[in-house]
Amino acid sequence: MRARGSWLLSFALALALSLSGAAVAADFLGPESCKGCHPAAYEAWMQSKHARAGDSLSETQQKDARCLSCHSPDQASQGVSHVTCETCHGGGQYYSPGYVMKDAELARLVGLVDPSEKACRNCHDASSPSLKPFNFVESLKAIDHWSPERTGKSARAENASPEPAKKK
Ligand code: HEC
Ligand code: HEC
Ligand code: HEC
Ligand code: HEC
Repeated sequence: MRARGSWLLSFALALALSLSGAAVAADFLGPESCKGCHPAAYEAWMQSKHARAGDSLSETQQKDARCLSCHSPDQASQGVSHVTCETCHGGGQYYSPGYVMKDAELARLVGLVDPSEKACRNCHDASSPSLKPFNFVESLKAIDHWSPERTGKSARAENASPEPAKKK
């Protein structure tokens, strides 16, 4: 019962972390690791400027920690460039296994983050070059990758029959 064993391990980890009050310092797995299970979110993200944020920097600027802190904040520590899934949702090491992801509470206990307006403002602040002040509601619409994701989810739910699906 390998799956059950690893579930117990995650549960013990979650419990230990919540008792110690420690934040989860989980490794990043990279956006490709999310793609298999969240293809719609991945495609939408790929169309966004976040997916290419590091490319806006010149070669010299790509070595400048001041620029990287917003354009590619996890490059040095995690080897993952640009503003990626895990920059916003937290490192996926512990939450991305399917059996954890299906349990919304457990996933959050082991590091899944719901990005807040405050998190956006860490980067979209007075020192970013935009002439317009950051508008959270408008900006959220511009990075929407959850609507296609939810459409896919309800389609999956409707197609799910009580009988096990036949292999094609
Ligand atoms: C093995 C498949 C799998 C992988 C890999 C995976 N997920 Fe998930 N994820 C799921 C499932 C299943 C759900 C539950 C909702 C659903 O059915 O779509 C979910 C839910 C989520 C949610 C919504 C949680 C909620 O309760 O609202 C977020 C955010 C998320 N995943 C982000 C990620 C990110 C970021 C990565 C990559 C680091 C990732 N996932 C990798 C399968 C996966
Ligand atoms: C700039 C920050 C940011 C990045 C980058 C990002 N997300 Fe999100 N994501 C959000 C926010 C904010 C929400 C919640 C939006 C809402 O519910 O209004 C969200 C919601 C989701 C959901 C929830 C969908 C549901 O069913 O409720 C999934 C799944 C998800 N993101 C996966 C991903 C994946 C996979 C990537 C990378 C390919 C990614 N996200 C990149 C900020 C981000
Ligand atoms: C780690 C820093 C970081 C975080 C966190 C972040 N962003 Fe960004 N965002 C950027 C950078 C850098 C760019 C510019 C990318 C480029 O073009 O080089 C950008 C670009 C954008 C753009 C496109 C702006 C344009 O002029 O077209 C939108 C919209 C946006 N972000 C929304 C959000 C929202 C909403 C959140 C929070 C859920 C968020 N961002 C969180 C760094 C961040
Ligand atoms: C505090 C976070 C932050 C820092 C630090 C930062 N940027 Fe940005 N940068 C942004 C955001 C956010 C945007 C997107 C435009 C906007 O909404 O302000 C952006 C946009 C840009 C763009 C325009 C990209 C486009 O698509 O048109 C360039 C070029 C750029 N930044 C270069 C730099 C350089 C060079 C540095 C280092 C000297 C730097 N940035 C530091 C947040 C930051």
